[in-house]
Amino acid sequence: MNFIRPRQSSAALGAELKRHIGRHVEKQFDWNAFPSNNGFADLERAQMRYIGAGGSPKVGDPATLKPEHFTLSLIYKHVGKYAACHAHEIEESFLILNGVLTVGWELDGDVVEVRLGPKDMILNARDIGHGFRNDGIEPVLMSISVDVGKPLPPRYLYHPKNTDPELARRFGAAPGKTLAFDPESSHPLQKLMARHVIRATGQPSHFDAAGITTKIYVGPGGIASETCRKDMMGVPPRVKVKPYQRDVEEAFLVLDGEITIGWIAEDGSLAEAELGPRDLVMTPAGRPRWFANNSVAPATIWRVVGERGTETVHFTADES
Ligand SMILES: [Fe+2]
Repeated sequence: MNFIRPRQSSAALGAELKRHIGRHVEKQFDWNAFPSNNGFADLERAQMRYIGAGGSPKVGDPATLKPEHFTLSLIYKHVGKYAACHAHEIEESFLILNGVLTVGWELDGDVVEVRLGPKDMILNARDIGHGFRNDGIEPVLMSISVDVGKPLPPRYLYHPKNTDPELARRFGAAPGKTLAFDPESSHPLQKLMARHVIRATGQPSHFDAAGITTKIYVGPGGIASETCRKDMMGVPPRVKVKPYQRDVEEAFLVLDGEITIGWIAEDGSLAEAELGPRDLVMTPAGRPRWFANNSVAPATIWRVVGERGTETVHFTADES
């Protein structure tokens, strides 16, 4: 008789897995995450921290997962509000989840503005002045990740505390000095930005043997980076991958659909959790894990892996 004994579930591993999950409905948006915005209504924004503080000084938040190579948070921005132009010595990505965000980069008084829609991303380069503004008709929700190698505070270049508010709203561009993003332009700032913007609809999908599609955002095949890989995975219904592991941490933020994640203990026992939209799991280095889509609809997952370089994990379908 062909009999396979089911793996035992482990309560201890289940508790550990739960500690590495951020459930959207259990978390809070923080309207006071950025003290430099206090007193400036036009700069209002809310932050929901999943991994680390993500540019906020609130690094000790116990409701937040401890970062290793990157942070991950959500930022909410009302229509008409903006973030003042600043620079920092770390890379920072903005992935738009809802709405349309205008992101401006400034160099020597010139500003290039790009409009980003859902699932578009910009990787703000180190030391480049950048700000953002919601010129749309609906609120913007985006996911921000920064590398935590050099967690220095931002240098504000055009903040309304010491800049004409209209100039600050334009990220430092004098009238006539704002350029609409044009990836074909020969302007040095346009060329630089063009290497750091990913349009979801412009990225090729890679199909693997397990049936999963991947669009690479950051890493070989996407934007070059010295820190982390970032990509968007599509997982069809009824697809399950065989266990795999990594030498670094890996985060999944579910954008659409549902996903089941399973961890495997040293003794072979199991823990599972089901994640829905805006839920996150961060699996630490070395932990064997698998995932599956047990729902009737495809799942879309934003994935951040705490290393640079070529992907080493290749999924295999588990059809058992
Ligand atoms: Fe920034």
